[in-house]
Amino acid sequence: MADAAALKEKAGRAALSFVEDGMRLGIGTGSTAEAFIRVLAEKVTTGLRITGVATSKRTAELCGELGVPIVTLDEMPELDLTIDGADEIDADFRLIKGGGGALLREKIVAAASARMVVIADASKCVETLGAFPVPIEVNGFGLTATYIGIRKAAERLGLSGEITMRLAGAEPFITDNGHLILDASFGRIPQAEALSEALHAVPGVVEHGLFLRYASDAVIARSDGVEVRHNRPA
Ligand code: A5P
Repeated sequence: MADAAALKEKAGRAALSFVEDGMRLGIGTGSTAEAFIRVLAEKVTTGLRITGVATSKRTAELCGELGVPIVTLDEMPELDLTIDGADEIDADFRLIKGGGGALLREKIVAAASARMVVIADASKCVETLGAFPVPIEVNGFGLTATYIGIRKAAERLGLSGEITMRLAGAEPFITDNGHLILDASFGRIPQAEALSEALHAVPGVVEHGLFLRYASDAVIARSDGVEVRHNRPA
């Protein structure tokens, strides 16, 4: 059985088939996205021309080290394609993202892209979203009030469970945007759209990790091959 790193590389390599010369490319964050960046860099070295927009500082740094050209989203606000990982993906191409803490930039970049290809190993495929805690990026001001707002919004949808502040060692984890992350362990989320709306209605919530209408395609690596799924025609 292939190990996790090999599956990530396999997904990253298969995703290259979506990348065309001259593309404006959103580049994701996380270990699977990093595997993609490494194979992308090989192609760039041998002549592929793309212009990338990074979804995090760490992705921008890695692209810089490997010679993948990067501009800001303000310099190139409309993208052809984003390739990014996910923490969970369901059969309707709905995702949970943000395990790496980059969900806000990831969502802004995905929204600016004509297509989004999700790359993952099969362990990320689920029947119903929610075993992975939903990351919620929040403003630091009024954190407790925001926490209570999230809890009440979830309760109205019949969801409960621990909501914990993400830490980096002993300190709060701070996102690239200077915010905090609350990880909400709601368990099964049968009404993901309703939860998304309810979370957006809490003023201290900056963004959440439910990506419900973004993924156009998925590249799923398994030990015996790679499955490419399309949510909408190219
Ligand atoms: C980063 O914030 C995330 O959205 C990642 O895309 C997601 O957590 C998947 O990461 P891995 O590829 O490391 O599992």
